[in-house]
Amino acid sequence: MHSSSPISRRDVIKGLGAGVALVGLGALGSTAQAAAAPVAASAAAPASGPFSLPKLPYAYDALEPHLDARTMEIHHSRHHQAYINNANAALRDQAALSALTGIQLLQRLPSVPDAVRAAVRNNVGGHVNHSFFWEIMGPGATVPTGALAAAIDKAFGSFEEFKTRFAAAATGRFGSGWAWLNVRGGALVIESTANQDSPWSDGAVPVLGLDVWEHAYYLKYQNVRPDYVKAFWNVVNWRKVEANFTAAPV
Ligand SMILES: [Fe+2]
Repeated sequence: MHSSSPISRRDVIKGLGAGVALVGLGALGSTAQAAAAPVAASAAAPASGPFSLPKLPYAYDALEPHLDARTMEIHHSRHHQAYINNANAALRDQAALSALTGIQLLQRLPSVPDAVRAAVRNNVGGHVNHSFFWEIMGPGATVPTGALAAAIDKAFGSFEEFKTRFAAAATGRFGSGWAWLNVRGGALVIESTANQDSPWSDGAVPVLGLDVWEHAYYLKYQNVRPDYVKAFWNVVNWRKVEANFTAAPV
């Protein structure tokens, strides 16, 4: 097993460029404001810099009826793009930081200069988290198999008990954030983070994640987050989750 992942390999591909759109930097003074910034930021400006929007591995309507096409399109093309625009803007004059992958930046947050640490935490976090999220979903319900299924049974007793505990983490996260199935210290653990905070910044390796920001579900599920969490199980790509688990350090 090794610590690299498809996301980290993809993020290694860098494209330094000029003409960075200074979108939303004025809102990066605090964690809460920065976390909210992408919602207001336009995705119209091209994202010139180290990060670019990954293509979804499926069509916007592929996860219907569980995740609707309109939500997926706005979530991917606007919200995710805005995190990228803001991250690129924050790294505009940071050549050394721009040479790192998104995951490497999140793993080294304490060493990121004060002036851009909040922007990196929130916007590189948003980019890495969303890139991960798209990949662990797909059309067609699947279930865990093999070593991952065995590890879930060992850690939580059963797959059903795992889903119950994961859903509790997702619905119990106050405000905006994420629920995660992580590998931490060689074991599977269910955790959650606020805003765009990433398990990578806290010594863990994510294998499954669920975005519980309202922008992920409000158009279809309004304020009923538990229904969105329940629907999520119909679109988890467990083959990808298994690959993440296999790649995680023991
Ligand atoms: Fe999101």
